[in-house]
Amino acid sequence: MKRFRIALLPGDGIGPEVTAEAVRALTAVGELFGYQFETAEHAIGATAFARFGEPFPPATRGAVTQADAVLLGAVGDPALDRAPRHQRPEAGLLALRKLLKAYANLRPVAVHPALAHASPLRPERLAGVDVLIVRELTGGLYYGEPRGRDEQSAVNTLRYTAPEVERVARVAFEAARGRRKHVTSVDKANVLEVSQLWREVVTRVGADYPDVALEHLYIDYAAMRLVSDPASLDVLVTENLFGDILSDEAAVLAGSLGLLPSASLGDGPGLFEPVHGSAPDIAGQGVANPVGAIASAAMLLRHGLGLAEAGDLLDRAVRTVLDTGVRTRDLARAGERAVGTREFGDRVVQLLAAPAALRV
Ligand code: NAD
Ligand code: IPM
Ligand code: MN
Repeated sequence: MKRFRIALLPGDGIGPEVTAEAVRALTAVGELFGYQFETAEHAIGATAFARFGEPFPPATRGAVTQADAVLLGAVGDPALDRAPRHQRPEAGLLALRKLLKAYANLRPVAVHPALAHASPLRPERLAGVDVLIVRELTGGLYYGEPRGRDEQSAVNTLRYTAPEVERVARVAFEAARGRRKHVTSVDKANVLEVSQLWREVVTRVGADYPDVALEHLYIDYAAMRLVSDPASLDVLVTENLFGDILSDEAAVLAGSLGLLPSASLGDGPGLFEPVHGSAPDIAGQGVANPVGAIASAAMLLRHGLGLAEAGDLLDRAVRTVLDTGVRTRDLARAGERAVGTREFGDRVVQLLAAPAALRV
């Protein structure tokens, strides 16, 4: 029996609800393949602040660096929206990403044919949509110094170094080689010096990948293309803040923010988390869509532990459940019965117990 240590950080709001289903699914996959996933739970976000007075306490810091991979739910609590920056749940998440040196955030967005109705876009726009957003995750405006504010002014700094751009660009080109061999780099090089550097470095890296086509788009037009002609995009690489915004926009293609998973990779253990936040508007009701979290667990298997076959099987289980018409509230049509978070998880686990029924 092969053992893996997973640091589990459920976090706030719907985070614990959706990660519980991801862990059940992981356990079920482990039983099929003979893997044992030891999940140890640690505090992050508002939950950690309430218990330990800080959003990323030392015990959590120690645990994540020792783990084989980290699975996170979400952080965020409106009650802390006016708290000083270092107390905010989001600061805990940013510190976690930095500690793990998780500079490349992969956010795949595909359209499941059975869910095309859930997107406000016309079905013909959605045909063939399969985008991988590669978001730089440990630099840019989120981390730049100096930053700060007083009554009348505030400052944040946008800074990137060439090596920071180069390493995330390489991740994008490597990913494109396993896909449709097309990279779209998104910047604002018509205005920002940082974007001019970004464009130069990405172009230089692109020369090492003559088999991959490279296009550059400005962020404003990219935001439009993502909804006007999403099938024209394959791998999209961009800086931290642009990637944050474009990935929530891309969720509109899939039909719900609750569907999107992510993998954050770099020089430490991988970090896996759904794209969505703590969703305070639905927290505690048991209605959140766990697909983003379960699909993040599939990415954990594939990218974090090198267990591609197990990851593929888990993805197939989720697809099969959706194919059979099982829907959480965010995806149900008017009048259609919606299942809760737990019941959706039950369906995934049941399928994994009888994998012959899985669709390809
Ligand atoms: P959000 O992603 O939490 O919610 C946006 C909308 O999507 C809400 O209507 C919510 O109900 C819905 N939604 C999100 N996930 C869903 C799911 N799994 N199933 C069904 N519906 C879902 O974004 P927000 O409301 O802007 O932010 C709320 C809090 O979350 C803030 O404190 C923010 O900082 C934090 N946040 C955290 C992360 C993270 O931990 N990675 C990501 C985004 C936002
Ligand atoms: C995300 C979130 C975070 C981000 C916040 C909560 C710090 O929106 O993971 O997309 O902006 O990176
Ligand atoms: Mn975001």
